Amino acid sequence: MSLPAPTADNRAVVTGASQGIGTALAEELARRGYSLILVARRKELLTDLAVRLGDRYGVTAEVRAVDLSDREERGPLSAELAERDIAILCNNAGVATFGPVAKLDPAYERAVVELNSVAVHDLTLSVLPGMLARRAGGILITGSVAGNMAVPNNATYAATKAFTNSFSESLRGELGGTGVNVTLLAPGPVRTTNPDQEDVGTKIPEFVWVSAAHTAKLSIDSLARNKMRVVPGLISKGMSVAGQYAPRALTAPVVGAVYKRMGGL
Ligand SMILES: NC(=O)c1ccc[n+]([C@@H]2O[C@H](COP(=O)([O-])OP(=O)(O)OC[C@H]3O[C@@H](n4cnc5c(N)ncnc54)[C@H](OP(=O)(O)O)[C@@H]3O)[C@@H](O)[C@H]2O)c1
Repeated sequence: MSLPAPTADNRAVVTGASQGIGTALAEELARRGYSLILVARRKELLTDLAVRLGDRYGVTAEVRAVDLSDREERGPLSAELAERDIAILCNNAGVATFGPVAKLDPAYERAVVELNSVAVHDLTLSVLPGMLARRAGGILITGSVAGNMAVPNNATYAATKAFTNSFSESLRGELGGTGVNVTLLAPGPVRTTNPDQEDVGTKIPEFVWVSAAHTAKLSIDSLARNKMRVVPGLISKGMSVAGQYAPRALTAPVVGAVYKRMGGL
C-alpha cells in the first residue's frame, strides 16, 4: 500500500511544477528523497526549481518544458514516461477561466479541456502499465471541489474537474491489490503566488484559504496511504460535502453568482 521507495533510477513526475501547488508538491517529494521530472511550459522557472531542489535535497531533477495542452508536444513526454521507471505521477497542471462560455475564447476553452482532462488521462495511461508490472506506484490527480458541482461562469473548468474527480476515484476502484495507489486531491481555495489569485483572493475570505505547502504534504501522505480523496481545510471539506449532496438546482444559481463576482463580471 505504501509508495515505492526513491531510488537513483526512479522518478516522481510533477506537472505544473513551475508555480503554485505543483512547486510545493515537487519540494515535498524532493524532501522525501525522490528524484524528479518537472513539467510545465516555462523552462526557466523549472530549471531554477531543479537547481534549488538538487542543492537543498541532493536529488536529481530533470526539466521537461512542454505545453500539455498541445497533443504534438505532449506525445514525446507520454512516450518517455511509458518507458521510464515512474514511481509517482502527480497530474497537477490545470487552469481555470471565468465568465459565460459563450463570451470566452473558444480556442482557449478547448485548450483548457485538453490540459485539465485529456492530458491527465493521457499521462496516466502512459505510466500505468509500468506501475502495474512493477506492482508499485502512486498517481495523484489534482481535481477540485468545483468538480463536484454545477458552476455557471466557470463551466469548462468545473466540467474538466468533474472528469478528473470521477476518473481518479473510479481508477482507484479498479486498482485494489495491484500495488498502485491513486488519490484525488480535490481542494477548495489554496493560496499560491499566482498573481491571478490577487483579484480572486479579495473576494474569498482569508480563513477559507489553505497553504500550498500544507496541501502538498497532506496530498503525498494521503497518496502513501492510498486515500481515495483529500480535501485540505475544514471549510473546503464543508464545500466538498455540500457540492456532492445538495440539490444542484438549488446550488447552481448561488455558486454561479459567487463565480460571477470572482470573475469581476
Ligand atoms: N489554487 C487553488 O485554489 C486551486 C483550487 C482547486 C484546484 N486547483 C487545481 O490545482 C492545480 C494547481 O493549481 P495552482 O493554483 O497551483 O495553479 P497555478 O499557480 O496557476 O499553476 C498552474 C501550473 O500549471 C502549469 N500549466 C498551465 N498551463 C499549462 C500547459 N498548457 N502546459 C503545461 N503546464 C501548464 C503552469 O506552468 P506554466 O505556466 O509554466 O506552463 C503552472 O506550473 C490545478 O489543476 C488547479 O485547477 C487549485
